[in-house]
Amino acid sequence: MNEMETKTQVEDSIIQESLLTCIDLANSDHQSESFLFQACLDSGFFYVINHGISEEVMDKAFEQSKNFFALPLEEKMKVLKNEKHRGYTPFYDQIPDPENQVQGDHKEGYYIGSEVPRDDPQWDYPFYGPNPWPDPDVLPGWRETMEKYHQEALRVCKAIAKLLALALDMDADYFDSPEMLGKPISTLRLLHYEGKSDPSKGIYGTGAHSDYGMMTLIATDGVLGLQICKDRNAKPQKWEYVPSIEGALVVNLGDMMQCWSNGLFRSTMHRVILNDQNRYSIPFFLEPNHDCIIECLPTCQSESNLPKYPAIKCSTYITQRYEEVHANFRSYQKHA
Ligand code: OGA
Ligand code: NI
Repeated sequence: MNEMETKTQVEDSIIQESLLTCIDLANSDHQSESFLFQACLDSGFFYVINHGISEEVMDKAFEQSKNFFALPLEEKMKVLKNEKHRGYTPFYDQIPDPENQVQGDHKEGYYIGSEVPRDDPQWDYPFYGPNPWPDPDVLPGWRETMEKYHQEALRVCKAIAKLLALALDMDADYFDSPEMLGKPISTLRLLHYEGKSDPSKGIYGTGAHSDYGMMTLIATDGVLGLQICKDRNAKPQKWEYVPSIEGALVVNLGDMMQCWSNGLFRSTMHRVILNDQNRYSIPFFLEPNHDCIIECLPTCQSESNLPKYPAIKCSTYITQRYEEVHANFRSYQKHA
């Protein structure tokens, strides 16, 4: 194959937009269940509408996110990510796909985790610890805005969890139960992307990765950037944009859902490509309780379909994946 053909193929492979299913959360009839099932088999990416998060709550979250990122670096560094993975993460500090990235992700972020009450015996567990917050004199109402969005996003994810359980032939409350989602490790992440990506040079907004949890609910400011690759082994890989749809949120399943469903439901690889425009997004990552064991569901295995993934404790899996991303970054720094 000559160079020209390769280039055309690469270009062709990234301009298409993905046609994803739209699930109406206000209308849980059997038809939407079967659409959801199909979407989970196909890519694990879909839209949800009628999610009940008001425009006001959504707009405020984006406005306050922009207010935070507009602060001087010095102010942002006062809430630098702590050992419990909460707080500010500067540009380039993650490198999820070191084989293809020559720099860290062109994004800065802010992690807001779940908090359990101080009198809970697990309150200081690694993923439950209290959040740092920007100074309320600098950003009045910021914490309240983010706590409200966090709460709303969790509500939406729990509604989706019910549909996913039904789609997997389990009781509707299988995931949305005290043992699984009573004290979920749910993380709101504010993101601000900047710059221009160039995959041929290894420069990305976010390098290719799959999300590791149960599901992710993504709100964006409408700037195109998110891409998915349904078949990571295809050569060349085919990347499709996931455009934003007014009023809809994007949902993608993570690795834990792939494990529960024995690979039936997909945790699809995705990345963010930037075109010199600022881009803001707010993903909300849902993982179950700290001690929850993630293992193949009884409805997803048989004698001829044995569990493909080892059972693992939720917090152990998250710790492993966090360490990978940061180890990638450390080894990248060493070689740079
Ligand atoms: C992520 C992610 C997509 C986006 O943070 O894991 O894939 O649109 N984000 O910001
Ligand atoms: Ni992701």
